[in-house]
Amino acid sequence: MASAPRKRKMLQTVIWKEGSVTLVDQTRLPARLVYIRCKKHEDIVKAIRNMVVRGAPAIGISAAFGLALAASNSRAKNPTNLMKELDTAYWELRSTRPTAINLFWGLDRVMNKAKTGTNLHEIKDRVISEAKKIAQEDIQNNMAMGLNGAKLLYDGDVVITHCNAGALATSAYGTALGVIRAAKEAGKSVKVIATETRPVMQGSRLTTFELRYDNIDVTLIPDTAVGHIMSKGEIKCVIVGADRILRTGHVFNKIGTYQIALMANIHKVPFYVAAPLSSFDLKSKLEDVPIEERRADEVLKIGKKRIAARGVAALNPAFDVTPPELVTGIITEKGILTPPFESSIELFSGEQKLS
Ligand code: MRU
Repeated sequence: MASAPRKRKMLQTVIWKEGSVTLVDQTRLPARLVYIRCKKHEDIVKAIRNMVVRGAPAIGISAAFGLALAASNSRAKNPTNLMKELDTAYWELRSTRPTAINLFWGLDRVMNKAKTGTNLHEIKDRVISEAKKIAQEDIQNNMAMGLNGAKLLYDGDVVITHCNAGALATSAYGTALGVIRAAKEAGKSVKVIATETRPVMQGSRLTTFELRYDNIDVTLIPDTAVGHIMSKGEIKCVIVGADRILRTGHVFNKIGTYQIALMANIHKVPFYVAAPLSSFDLKSKLEDVPIEERRADEVLKIGKKRIAARGVAALNPAFDVTPPELVTGIITEKGILTPPFESSIELFSGEQKLS
């Protein structure tokens, strides 16, 4: 008799243990699943900048733990000096990447907690426990989001996703891929079509890796194949993550998301965004949100090999904006937001302190 497939341990991306932070090194995937240990907040700064850790919630959680490392390593003799050290670490961590709001949300949440401490011990303790709480809540929120989103899916459905909005982009379980996981846990067999996500290849390197890791059916397609695949009429919906969602419902996410949303609109395929409330930015205006511009080399080369003519210029925006009229719904831990987003976002985010 064939034995049941062994259930693997949940893939955890960011782990705090005894004053150090362990991260999956996402630059090494899918070839090797290796972990790096960060002992100083500067290690976290480097890890976020170099995309060892990436994905909006994972960046926010790692940065929060960056402050926890700064607090636990501090030799300050009084609260004023400790707060100064934390402030320096805060600004270093803040400058790592500009688009994902979760980075600023996580850092502000920990700093605000630090300010409530009245002595050295209390400040350190509050910083560390707030960072741990953010990581823990992330998993719970992803699971709640998964349950909410899984109601949209039925046995045999095929879902397109872009970039990586999975366990690797969060502390565990994932947002868009969390919905797929929850559907699978509810006994529905759902197939995923993952785009490569040029130029950093989060789809081919990370999404396929983590779905294979959990035995979820995944097929990789070139980014350019989305329209063709949708035109066949077999796609149930698109589910992607978000780096920032404005009060108007504009969604900042990985470059290429906008054209997938346009394509979905033309082919009448529902387009969903799965994101926690910590990805909402109720303050910024559309024109105020910086879109990260990355090195031209990522476009001009594949790995180390140059693929473009010498001397050619390249543009490499890392994110784009999908307007609310192309979004069918936003799956959150509190429920699914539907248009008009301005009023539904207001309603859902009421209890959440947004930066
Ligand atoms: O540049 P990255 O890899 O950090 O971009 C990640 C994305 O765009 C994700 O879709 C987004 O952060 C949501 S992750 C749950």
